[in-house]
Amino acid sequence: MSLRHESAVGHVTGRAIYTDEQHEPAGMLSLWPVQAPHAHARFRIVDTSAARAMPGVRGVLVASDIPGENNTGPIKHDEPLIPVDTVEFHGQAVAWVIAVDEAHARAAAAAVQVHYEPLPARLSIADAIADDAFHMPATRVARGDAAKALADAPHRIDGELHIGGQDHFYLETQASWTALDADGLLQIVASTQHPSETQAIVAHVLGIHAHRVLCRCLRMGGGFGGKETQANPYAAIAALATWITRQPVRIKLQRQLDMQMTGKRHPFFARYRAGFDDNGLLHAIAVDLVADGGWSSDLSPPVLMRTMVHIDNAYFVPHVEIVGRIAKTHLASNTAFRGFGGPQGMVVGEEILDRVARHLRLPAHAVRERNFYRPAQVPDRNTTHYGQPVVDNHLPQLWAQLLHDSGFAARRDAATDFNAAHPHAKRGIAITPVKFGISFNKTEYNQAGALVHIYADGSIQLNHGGTEMGQGLHTKMIEVARRTLGVSRERIQLMATSTDKVPNTSATAASSGSDLNGQAVKAACDTLLARLAPVAATLLQGAVGDVVFADDGVFLGSASERRLSFEEVVGVAYHERVSLSATGYYRTPVIHWDPAAGQGHPFYYFAYGAAVSEVELCGYTGVHRLLRVDLLHDVGESIAEHIDRGQIEGGFVQGLGWLTCEELRWNAKGKLLTDAPSTYKIPTLGDVPHAFHVALFRRSDAPSTNVIFGSKGVGEPPLMLALSVREALRDAVAAFGDARAVALACPSTPEALLTAIDAVRAR
Ligand code: MTE
Ligand code: MOS
Repeated sequence: MSLRHESAVGHVTGRAIYTDEQHEPAGMLSLWPVQAPHAHARFRIVDTSAARAMPGVRGVLVASDIPGENNTGPIKHDEPLIPVDTVEFHGQAVAWVIAVDEAHARAAAAAVQVHYEPLPARLSIADAIADDAFHMPATRVARGDAAKALADAPHRIDGELHIGGQDHFYLETQASWTALDADGLLQIVASTQHPSETQAIVAHVLGIHAHRVLCRCLRMGGGFGGKETQANPYAAIAALATWITRQPVRIKLQRQLDMQMTGKRHPFFARYRAGFDDNGLLHAIAVDLVADGGWSSDLSPPVLMRTMVHIDNAYFVPHVEIVGRIAKTHLASNTAFRGFGGPQGMVVGEEILDRVARHLRLPAHAVRERNFYRPAQVPDRNTTHYGQPVVDNHLPQLWAQLLHDSGFAARRDAATDFNAAHPHAKRGIAITPVKFGISFNKTEYNQAGALVHIYADGSIQLNHGGTEMGQGLHTKMIEVARRTLGVSRERIQLMATSTDKVPNTSATAASSGSDLNGQAVKAACDTLLARLAPVAATLLQGAVGDVVFADDGVFLGSASERRLSFEEVVGVAYHERVSLSATGYYRTPVIHWDPAAGQGHPFYYFAYGAAVSEVELCGYTGVHRLLRVDLLHDVGESIAEHIDRGQIEGGFVQGLGWLTCEELRWNAKGKLLTDAPSTYKIPTLGDVPHAFHVALFRRSDAPSTNVIFGSKGVGEPPLMLALSVREALRDAVAAFGDARAVALACPSTPEALLTAIDAVRAR
């Protein structure tokens, strides 16, 4: 069934309203940062009076203005909202100017006098390793005896890999506005994935309780993880300005500021060893990981943990030793980004698989398949290195179907023929799997709430704790309510996410937005149905258990000719004083996690997919064309197929950008050079593959009953389908020579590919 995104028309006509477009209150002020020109320095604000005296200026915010706790760190309290005396990254705001508009604030920011005393800065993971500067002690996830198994293995490889970061490049940059209502309650409208945390952090910063703060989010123009925690400081700075001026204040980072100041996907450095047999079956892997956390810890610990539990991707490895650390550098603080560290782990895993195959001169797809987790009937090869059994494993079937549907074998032969005939252009083809764990590693986030009102005229307001960032969560929630109550879509008004409707919500993240909120919405609707059914049963003179709500009507399953309209039943229920408002609540069962041991059952289930990509690579320029992509992804029973397809296509293209064209560069002072679309290349329509086949996997057995309507989370997993492009490129590079190992930088830009081709040719 085709189900349109609830704001589809608004998105394409420009009529959908975002945070910065709805600031109606008169006298709205704007903010501009005073940015430090050093990555690491002691500083002192020398004088703000010149700035304060400039036209339109209403104030200058410095650390001492903060009435509560000067911290926005979500886990560790290591993140001052405004630094006191130390600059931690280039472009950090040491003060903020409040003025009647952005132009006036910006002009005055240049007049704030600051004295800086530069300090040595750590600008890379290597610098942090040399300085032994880490955010926390090393963590370890292990099984068996990797050292011994490596020593005993018939074959061994080892290697190193740098993995680049990625800017979120949401179309709407960080934005918030704040105002005080008549009772002095602080109202925040924010582009945030986590309104409850924004509320909590603003309350802490102001030194007040959460019940004095209300946070709303109508929709985001993209979040991608970048607004999971990093929306908080901007909401807090606007709130502080409102608190001090008693005026409404807006903030909307200009693109360059956003790119300079906000954190990105974590770059990683990985050092790996793998041991395997003649068939390419893995015996052991040992991996040392270092993530670049940036200046504060933010979400780095759980991101790293997800990396450590996704290195295995879809592969069973008997002996595993993974050690992870988080480098403390003087760069913007890196954060959640679609996949939340999982993609970086899987890059390492797929690198190892390809190295193993080439080392043995075996086809990579066969070596991959050979190492898959086996179904539950093969119990000694179906448990992850962190102790979770891989049940409901559709991958073998999905993989076989994709090999067949994409014509993989014949195309591989055709590529070989093409390569024999073309010395300066080579084609490469690869198939890679995705297995991605769905749930928050942080167990308490796996809960959700909803609030549903039915008005006496039969119309419905739907509130839930999730946020809309383009992924279609609201559309899916309307669908859950619609199906549960048996009413038409037009009856349901979805309300902006608001902390006074559903409190203590989790971030909309970890691809579990519809899983969690969907169950909560369903629970609220079920409660309402349980109250309405007796009313209808009396009206229809039947048994409560026989009452059916469907097609905007109510009838008895055993005698469906007599129908009442939904509003008729609602109207009678109101007169009989039946409550027509209900909350719903859900918490994910089964899951548990012991962070100290690195063991447990952190994921409610796994999402599966696979991708075949074929590229043609030019030996003169390193430029490639993506000829054809076939994606097959398991979304369970889709709640909204068009939206899921959009997530699969969009996720893949975003992964493609990360792996092939998006490259972050800093200068020797730690200033981000790629801070605009002119220097930071995100994929565009022209980069989308010419032949792009996307299919939803249809499972042959019954749908899972313990997830909402049998559906599966789809927000993040498809990003990792783009790993097939990286491996296809490697395949093409290999064809330029006869290499048993192809080192390929990540991202594989044309420059990196040319270097790789040269290395292969030189052998
Ligand atoms: N899709 C769009 N269009 N915009 C986004 O910001 N964020 C992604 C994904 N898909 C995102 C998106 C990320 S990082 C996550 S975790 C999920 O959506 C969150 O939403 P869900 O849990 O409802 O899938
Ligand atoms: Mo998504 S990185 O979990 O917001």
